[in-house]
Amino acid sequence: MRGDKRMQSAATLLRSAAMTERSLLRILACGSVDDGKSSLLGRLLAETGAIPSDQLAELEADSRRFGTLGGAVDYALLLDGLSAEREQGITIDVAWRYFGTARRSFIVADAPGHEQYTRNMATAASIADLALLLVDATKGLLTQTRRHATIAALMGVRAIVLAVNKMDRAGYDQATFDAIVADFAAYAAGIGIQAFTAIPVSATAGDNIATRSAAMPWYDGPTVLEHLEQVDAPGAGADGAFRMPVQLAIRPDASFRGYAGTIAAGRIAPGDPVLLIPSGRRTTIARLLDAGEDCAEAGPGAAVTLTFADEVECGRGELLCAPDDPPQVSDQFEATLIWMGEEEMLPGRQYWLKLGTRTVAATVQAPKYEIDVDTMGHLAAKTLGLNAIGVVHLWTDAPLPFEPYEQSRALGGFILIDRISHATVAAGLIHFALRRATNVHWQTLDVTRAARAAIKHQRPRVLWFTGLSGAGKSTIANLVEKRLHALDRHSFLLDGDNLRLGLNRDLGFTDADRSENIRRVGEVARLMADAGLIVLVAVISPFAAERRAVRERMAPGEFVEIFVDTPLDEAERRDVKGLYAKARTGQLANFTGVDSPYEPPKTPELRIDTTRTSPEDAAQAIVDYLLKLET
Ligand code: ADX
Repeated sequence: MRGDKRMQSAATLLRSAAMTERSLLRILACGSVDDGKSSLLGRLLAETGAIPSDQLAELEADSRRFGTLGGAVDYALLLDGLSAEREQGITIDVAWRYFGTARRSFIVADAPGHEQYTRNMATAASIADLALLLVDATKGLLTQTRRHATIAALMGVRAIVLAVNKMDRAGYDQATFDAIVADFAAYAAGIGIQAFTAIPVSATAGDNIATRSAAMPWYDGPTVLEHLEQVDAPGAGADGAFRMPVQLAIRPDASFRGYAGTIAAGRIAPGDPVLLIPSGRRTTIARLLDAGEDCAEAGPGAAVTLTFADEVECGRGELLCAPDDPPQVSDQFEATLIWMGEEEMLPGRQYWLKLGTRTVAATVQAPKYEIDVDTMGHLAAKTLGLNAIGVVHLWTDAPLPFEPYEQSRALGGFILIDRISHATVAAGLIHFALRRATNVHWQTLDVTRAARAAIKHQRPRVLWFTGLSGAGKSTIANLVEKRLHALDRHSFLLDGDNLRLGLNRDLGFTDADRSENIRRVGEVARLMADAGLIVLVAVISPFAAERRAVRERMAPGEFVEIFVDTPLDEAERRDVKGLYAKARTGQLANFTGVDSPYEPPKTPELRIDTTRTSPEDAAQAIVDYLLKLET
């Protein structure tokens, strides 16, 4: 979870800043490669005293040695410290810098300029109050400039500073500056940026960074540093109703029960009523502790511990909120996703969705569209690859309290996590709940599944046969069903090949189609189990994530995974349907085991080694296993 770690280190910085008295401004610095971002940041750090004197001396020596600026101090060298960066001459990851003046503390996320680092920039933008966008006065707006402005706007950064750099090389010419500003104003309007502040600067000469430039008398606005010190950038959640996701229940001994978390919005004081979501419980705040000390009141950004007036149950993932103004709750959303996974998004697959301190399973549908970050235009897309940004519908397996990202980053921003590798694969921004979520309710039926199963004198089950094509899944499943039938059990066999002739005839063999195939077969199996049947399912089902998702839709113990384990060379030797031969000669694409993966189950309930066990013996072993479960 690299993204998560980065967030954590940012959070640590934020906390240290919060402990000082001054207010904090989170800045995202971005712009195209070579626009002078490193020089500008280096100068800001140096001129605010953030660089120790010995390091400054070293910098002067380095500047003379490299001679990039004819011996003048090259502040860019301060930041381009990583050797890889020096070699390539580019900034490759988001680096966090911390500096301050008497009036304010600043954290700068130094975002790389290249397109392949969009995800890093988006991560940084998601916590920034202000974007400092660099433009080279001699080049004007570039694709990357527009791209970064768009991502910043998309991620909800409201304050934008356009620093028109290298004015010295543009002859300190006002007309050049004005033209770039006009150009940007036209673009900004189209991507929803209402206002921005433009400042003509020279990072290398020092004009209008920390000191006013004598070379541009026509400019009477603030320097970059003055602006950063004064700009009004209200912190997230400064107003609004109280919200606090519970991070941790603290019970050092029987006498103390506290709930720790960071306040996302609103203020809270002892005596205030709170509502817990999703449990719906209500209580009153008894004590409010900040760093172990009782306090009278706390607001957004404060990391606090609360105690309740009565003993209501509460744990991590619960959201505490103002009872008279609770957030919306839904399980279906429209959201923007910034894809960060090396593997592309798989529509239909379940991912973990982490919002606040709550983690639930979520299924993402095929994108409605991908966003062309250069034009904000909509592109048709079937999936999202690394660094792509798109709009999707997704649903979660439990209702989530949320707020649109525009209103609350804390309750509208989430990450998606791969369930097998645990990698962070996407950052998401909730737009709104889909109406469907609130209008379609599961009909509660009076004849229950238990009642339906009882008149059949059996427990419902799903026997899920997985394995390569030609492994023997259908053969064994068929024998098992015959024996169950002889034992008066009510069963049904769902076979992959047969279902692909009807219910799933619109699906092929791409990863996405297989994922959807398994989801549908799983849903049908579940309905049949609800009807009281013992359902036998024979499908390759090559992906562990989809098999797990089906298992989790069933009641505990009802899903029996049977791995029909036939090595590839053996299945290929048998080649009952002649498909391996076709796949090897290129007449059949995406064939499992040949050019499409199979992820064997790690802990199936049963494993059948078909090189040692006959289909008849395998069937008997499965029936015996079932009968044993019944007793
Ligand atoms: S799954 O991967 O989506 O679970 P499923 O079990 O439904 O596959 O269908 C597999 C059957 O489709 C195979 O037994 C085979 O007869 C047929 N088939 C046709 N093309 C392919 C392919 N490219 N890969 C695997 N099976 C294929």
